[in-house]
Amino acid sequence: MLVLGLESSCDETAVALVNDAGDIRANIVLSQLAEHRPYGGVVPEIAARSHLDHLDGLIVKALREAAVGFDDLQGVAATLGPGLIGGVLVAAMTGKAIAAARGLPFVAVNHLEGHALTARLTDRLDFPYLLLLVSGGHCQLLAVEGVGRYRRYGGTIDDAVGEAFDKTAKLLGLGYPGGPAVERAAETGDPARFPLPRPLKGRPGCDFSFSGLKTAVRQQVERLVELSPQDRADLAASFQASVAEVMIDRSRNALVRFRQDTGRPGPLVVAGGVAANRALRHALTDLTESEGTELVAPPPKLCTDNAAMIAWAGLERLRLGQRDALDAPARPRWPLEELQRPDNPLEMTA
Ligand code: KG4
Ligand code: ZN
Repeated sequence: MLVLGLESSCDETAVALVNDAGDIRANIVLSQLAEHRPYGGVVPEIAARSHLDHLDGLIVKALREAAVGFDDLQGVAATLGPGLIGGVLVAAMTGKAIAAARGLPFVAVNHLEGHALTARLTDRLDFPYLLLLVSGGHCQLLAVEGVGRYRRYGGTIDDAVGEAFDKTAKLLGLGYPGGPAVERAAETGDPARFPLPRPLKGRPGCDFSFSGLKTAVRQQVERLVELSPQDRADLAASFQASVAEVMIDRSRNALVRFRQDTGRPGPLVVAGGVAANRALRHALTDLTESEGTELVAPPPKLCTDNAAMIAWAGLERLRLGQRDALDAPARPRWPLEELQRPDNPLEMTA
């Protein structure tokens, strides 16, 4: 079974071809970074227009790379949310058009489910597992119990962690996107120089908060007036250390709850763009080792936004006999928990 996956919910235009053996036959990601950089963040209107300019060409390219044609496809999966709605509509309409023209089943994929199921594509994981989803728009801990079955343990009460990286980078004048820039700067920094807060550390539960941390970074920047390269490195390292400590504390609570719910110690999967951060990965590896389980971290290329995860999520649903109607709505907001609701637009066909 070969499925075409399409993704345009943020600032990456992505097309992939994946089969049910888990072979990624094509995986093309076109980043719009250069187009958004002058504005220091993603501009929705620019993103939507750029997706529209590039998506069809990338589909042709992906088919050519995999040496297949539309006739070889058994399904089309597109991200229908959550995300910037103008962009989401591009992959949604393109995917629906291909499905309609070729008489193929269409799957409306929740972008977060794409991240959530990636570890099954890359590491053949069985359910259940604990997921730490950390990206520019999302920051949550959830038990993944099956396709469409997610139990939320906690999430951010203000900023997503990737957002905190991006805002910190901006404060430090490190440019956009912030995550990789902060990580690079932190390499030569002293994580102990600035005593930044560890929001919610030691509290019960699995929620996150990053706005106070961001404010603390801003106050340090204002205090220093002019930042030397070493100041920048030290602040980046201090910020990153605080984030890692908070992540570990929250994830430890989640592992305890996961063990209570499932009788298993793990594994812990980390996904989303921030999962590319090596300091965080090291800290999570230490945590899972001390808790008697393992960390599963898909390769960075499949942790950041891509369409292979969308094709795979589509495959998982097609294998269960599910498909969506062609009037499935594109959604700016689409919490994972809603995939289980009775008014879930997925229709059972098998
Ligand atoms: O999953 P993603 O590609 O897009 C969504 O938000 O859905 O995640 C992008 C986020 C950005 O905030 C970016 O700064 C962050 O992931 N990020 C990182 C690193 N690489 C990307 N944050 C920390 N360290 C990194 N190495
Ligand atoms: Zn994402």
